[in-house]
Amino acid sequence: MEIIVCKNYEEISKTAYKVFEEVILSRKNPVLGLATGSTPIGLYRELIDGYKKKRISFKNVTTVNLDEYVGLSKNHPQSYAYFMEENLFKSVDIDRKNARIPNGRKKNLNKECLRYSNLLSKTPRDIQLLGIGGNGHIAFNEPFSPFDGKTSVVNLSKKTIEDNSRFFDDINDVPTRAISMGISEIFSARKIVLLASGKNKAKAVYDAVKGSINPSCPASVLQNHKDCIFILDKDSAFLL
Ligand code: F6R
Repeated sequence: MEIIVCKNYEEISKTAYKVFEEVILSRKNPVLGLATGSTPIGLYRELIDGYKKKRISFKNVTTVNLDEYVGLSKNHPQSYAYFMEENLFKSVDIDRKNARIPNGRKKNLNKECLRYSNLLSKTPRDIQLLGIGGNGHIAFNEPFSPFDGKTSVVNLSKKTIEDNSRFFDDINDVPTRAISMGISEIFSARKIVLLASGKNKAKAVYDAVKGSINPSCPASVLQNHKDCIFILDKDSAFLL
């Protein structure tokens, strides 16, 4: 595991951009695993900038997202499909049919999980972007999720619901379930880049990097990955 400590959020985003640019330029049909949340927004801005300056194109890029809330339509402002559209897709030349995200509105959610899992096995990712939850979750794999897990419907922990309530008018509006890529599917990416910013992530980052490899901190599984980079700011790295 490589650890890069940056002086601030902007430097995290620019450092992560360089890694993504290299992957995009080195593959004919790059496959990017993407994440939502506050942390990757700066990287997405950099990717848009790289596209506008003609350094990169998304024409041959496929994206697969980590997760989606159960029950929110793709037009709901807090859905992850909407987030991706607003923060990246609408500003670059990606072919929407190559931008994949689980559908949390399907009646048969188990069937949707199976469909997504099959899609992932046919679409190996060249790079997987991750954030980290304050409790060490990756995607919505909460503490004690199995390391060999595949895409499934998960119940969000109380901590995650509280953390994510900042995006909603009322905590009661936060969905309590999501479809999430499983840990084994995340781990199967060729390269993994985890971004973290802020003191509220320091304990999770410490457990992921220095703790024992244990499902109590899902991100600790990344210690075993052969090509994984943590790009952190000083605050999230301060316990290391
Ligand atoms: C988002 C995701 C989550 C977030 C994590 C951190 O697709 O899978 O694991 O990466 O909750 O969220 P932020 O970046 O908002 O602190």
